[in-house]
Amino acid sequence: MKTDRKYAAVTKDIVEQLREAAGADNVALDDDSLRVCASDETEDLEFLPEVVVHADSTEAVSRVMKIAWDNDVPVTPRGGGTGLSGGALPIHGGIVVTTKRLNRILEVDTQNQIAVVEPGVITQVLQETVKEVGLYYPPDPSSRGSSHLGGNLAESAGGPHAVKYGVTKDYVLGIEAVLPDGTIIRHGGKLLKNSTGYNLTQLIIGSEGTLAVITKIYLKLIPLPRHRTLLFIPFPTLEAAVGTVPAVINSGIVPSALEFMERDAVKIAEEHLFVTIQHSDAPAQLLIELDGNDETIIRQEAEKVCEIALEQGATDVLLADSAARQAELWAIRRAMGEAVKTVSVYKEEDTVVPRTNLVPLLSGVKKIAATYGITTVCYGHAGDGNLHVNILKRDMSDDDWNTKLHDVIVKIFELTVSLGGTISGEHGIGYSQKNFMHIAFTDDELALMKRIKDAFDPKGILNPGKIFPDEKS
Ligand code: LAC
Ligand code: ZN
Repeated sequence: MKTDRKYAAVTKDIVEQLREAAGADNVALDDDSLRVCASDETEDLEFLPEVVVHADSTEAVSRVMKIAWDNDVPVTPRGGGTGLSGGALPIHGGIVVTTKRLNRILEVDTQNQIAVVEPGVITQVLQETVKEVGLYYPPDPSSRGSSHLGGNLAESAGGPHAVKYGVTKDYVLGIEAVLPDGTIIRHGGKLLKNSTGYNLTQLIIGSEGTLAVITKIYLKLIPLPRHRTLLFIPFPTLEAAVGTVPAVINSGIVPSALEFMERDAVKIAEEHLFVTIQHSDAPAQLLIELDGNDETIIRQEAEKVCEIALEQGATDVLLADSAARQAELWAIRRAMGEAVKTVSVYKEEDTVVPRTNLVPLLSGVKKIAATYGITTVCYGHAGDGNLHVNILKRDMSDDDWNTKLHDVIVKIFELTVSLGGTISGEHGIGYSQKNFMHIAFTDDELALMKRIKDAFDPKGILNPGKIFPDEKS
């Protein structure tokens, strides 16, 4: 692995220039500020920046980028710090530019059903704001209470409602962004259609802050569905649970969420939240939500889903139609990611396959884990074929963990790719998965991506050390 640094350090003079560019109050050098920006929600990774800039305008971002560009200092953009692949970690030090002071909802245009926001708006804050005017912004990663929309774009975040409504990229109509040399660009806008030139908006989405710093976002909204119901369905085997997924979808019903959880995931979340739910001892569960405007249709669909699930071997079907009961079940599901991490040293994977291949993926993952004597806890967005595989160290020796983990991940990823899938559905590659990119792409494909990176960032100062595998020395 090449580790030698080709970047310049942040000198006193550069700090002075940053103060001038972004406002003295927006530049932080104290230990606490640096430490906050040293980690995100990815394992125990920690990389200290040299200085943090809380940019409060597009122009400030532009001026900061120009300083970094002129001085060869790396810049890492940071949103809510909820990332799961280390995308916001300043692995080469340098400047972290946060979006927390770029947090205004600039407009909710109800006539066009479009919101215009700054990147530091918290996902749930936008959802609640537009709900007041009968509108809906569906993408809702589990971290929506603290994730920033800018970060959601950077990773093209998903969440439980993607099965019916799509992921972040499906809602972005345009952006304003700052290039590594400080140039401000705009693409798209309040437009539902756009066939004009390359789609820079979609290229920058999912680029994990490596191509540009997003400073303004145009988001499509949809009418808020008026009713929803939730089914909690225990199954006697993992295979029966995930095998039910295509059966439900092929019945013509599009659930607004179709989540899978194995027993250990439910148990760990119960303990984490100090609650217990009925049937949590079953080996596997599906959580299926149905929404719409017509309660009668939702009830008919719920009955049909019950029938299918029972045919597929479900041991019971619990209906949660009160908002309180639904909230309780969603709290368990949404706490899962955080809860699993509290029980052991871990590594989190984010596999995705065509949903009809979930059964071979899940049974393959369990087989690989058994061969290596390692624990996996799986849950995820089964309707999207997106399985979160948490690999836990538990009481394994450090030596065992260090030698086996890499091989286990390679085996899981090779299986995923052989099933027509890929290595991240919604968490991104960032820092923690970059050395597995060869499993998902050929050298030619990676080289093409690198040429795109070089076209945006020929000096390689923006979020370096992400996405692309380390070069072997
Ligand atoms: C979830 C996160 C981990 O699905 O993606 O809860
Ligand atoms: Zn997820």
